[in-house]
This record gives sequence, structure tokens and C-alpha cells, in this order.
Amino acid sequence: MTAPIRTVFWENEAVVMVDQRALPGEERYVRCDDYRRVMAAISDLTVRGAPAIGVAAALGIALGARSFGNSSWEEFRLETLRICDDFARTRPTARNLFWAIERMKRRLATLPPDPARAGDLLLAEALSILEEDIEVNRRIGLHGRTLIDDGDAVLTHCNAGALATAGYGTALGVLRAAREEGKRFVVYVDETRPVLQGARLTAWELAREGIEACLVTDNMAGWLMKLGRVRKVVTGADRVAANGDTANKIGTYSLAVLARHHGIPLYIAAPRSTIDLSLPDGTAIPIEERDAEEVRGFGGLRWAPEGFPCFNPAFDVTPADLVSAIITEDGIVSPPLGENLRRL
Ligand code: MRU
Repeated sequence: MTAPIRTVFWENEAVVMVDQRALPGEERYVRCDDYRRVMAAISDLTVRGAPAIGVAAALGIALGARSFGNSSWEEFRLETLRICDDFARTRPTARNLFWAIERMKRRLATLPPDPARAGDLLLAEALSILEEDIEVNRRIGLHGRTLIDDGDAVLTHCNAGALATAGYGTALGVLRAAREEGKRFVVYVDETRPVLQGARLTAWELAREGIEACLVTDNMAGWLMKLGRVRKVVTGADRVAANGDTANKIGTYSLAVLARHHGIPLYIAAPRSTIDLSLPDGTAIPIEERDAEEVRGFGGLRWAPEGFPCFNPAFDVTPADLVSAIITEDGIVSPPLGENLRRL
């Protein structure tokens, strides 16, 4: 049995995370003993994936709050709220980040006015968020595996695995769960330009578990479908609006259009903490734009002319009508997504 991947955890008064920028070449860990280092790690993709950045932020908030353990209660409270606001500026799209920050703020509001004790209780809350995320992913897996058939061929995009969560994964959690019940299938892994979460991270996760997989570049998906080699598309999500419109890694929308054209179902695996009922539809989802250098090259190699104009949205929004179902920890939500998400 392969050892579980430790994406982000708490150790000796620090937030520790596997450095996802270095994978798969090197498995190294980054130790953050200052909350500002956790913020930087979220922004620079040391830790990435919607649930994982929520967990990292919760631990980072606890870390920051604990550094005010000797302050007055008012200072502790105000500084902790300021740290929450700082974390909210790290990345705009993933709902889980804001969900985790709100949960830490709610906990803060209930704490006894004793900074040292409150610091411990905030850490306990962050650790619960971490533990619950793994449990939630397992439940997503149990529901989602009913959609995977023996002999299937599944295309996935980006990394929605253990590395994108506290452990186990959402889209890859579905595949892990299907595998655990003995189903055999092949996973096509989109490389996922510009920063290659598929080629580097999903491929690494699947290889270490011996799940049969095949890497393709993003522009091969259509032809793969035309050849009849893809039966299902399963991805994660960064934010789902009330009507079911789904933001996920750039390229998901193209896959959704291709899948519809070829009569292939697209399933989104996401915890309830990704669903944002406050936004009526996907037009209200903030889409992060990242540094143009990510498009001009990768890993120190630049293949485009220096300074060449680029567009680099990190996410796109797939309209609800292209989504066949959303797999959550509380069951599979089928169309009409808006109505059924509200019921959930
Ligand atoms: O920019 P990233 O790597 O944070 O984007 C991640 C994704 O788009 C994932 O598909 C999404 O967060 C779901 S992870 C369970």
C-alpha cells in the first residue's frame, strides 16, 4: 500500500506543505513558521487546488493568531481578523478559501477572551477543517464511483487529487474509490497548460498508485474523443454558482464543449464548500489572471519572444447545461442543477 500524500499539515508550530512546484522531480517540504509565508505559498502555487488552499489558509490564520498569544484580547482579535483579510487576497477564484476563512472568523467570534487559549482553539478548528476535508473526499469517492464502470476510459483535467485537497482528492478520489472496489479503467491525463498540473501532479499521483493512465496534451482531447477513446470526463471545481455554472482550471470549458459534441458525460466532483449559493450564475465568479510569464514558458525556459503579449486566465466557467452531474459528499446532484443544488 502506498503511503498517503501529505499535502499540508501542522508540525512543531509551523504549517508544512509539499512543494508542488518541485513535483514530480523532487519531493520536498516547505516549512512556514510565519503566516506570511503561508500566504506566499498559496499565491505562488507551492500549495494549490481549491480545498488545499482553504486548509492552508485556516492553518495559516491559526499560525498568525498564535503569534499574538501574549497580546491583549482586543489586539489578538483585531490582528486575527486582519490576517483573515490578508488571506482573502491571496487567490480570488476558489470558493473553499473564503469558506475556510469565514469558518475561522465564526470560530473566533465564539472564543473566550484569552489569547493563548483562543490560539489553541483556532488551531483545533483549522485541524478539524483538514480532517473533515479528507473524510468529505472519501464520501465524494463513494458516491462518484457508482458512475465509473469496469473497463472505462476517463479523461481528467488539472489536478483534483490528494495534492489539491487535504488528502484523497475529489475527481481523483472518485477514481481511487472505483479502483478500491476493484474496477479497472484507464485515465487520460490532460497535461493542463500553462503550469502543467496534469502532467506533473496528476500523473505523479496516478503513477505512485499504479492506476493505468496515459498523458495527453490539452489539444489532443477532441481527437481522443472522436476516436471513441474517452467514455467520461471527470474534473474538480474551484467554485460552483447557484445555477450550477462551474469554474475550474482553464481548459475545462473547452473539454465540456467537446464532451457535449461527442455525447460524453462531464462530471464535476466537488465538496459543498466549493458551492457558492450567493452567486446566481458563473458570470459573477471572479477569475484569477496570472503572470504572463506562465504562458511564455515554464521551468526557466521561455519559448515566446520576451515581453510578448499574453492572456493568462487561470480558470474558466463551464455553463451548467454542459455539466452532467455534480458529485458531492452528500450525493450526486443531477440536472436541473440550480434547483437540486438549492435542495442539497
Ligand atoms: O490553479 P490551481 O492549480 O489551484 O487550480 C486547481 C483546479 O482548478 C482544480 O481542478 C480545482 O481546484 C479542484 S481541486 C479538488
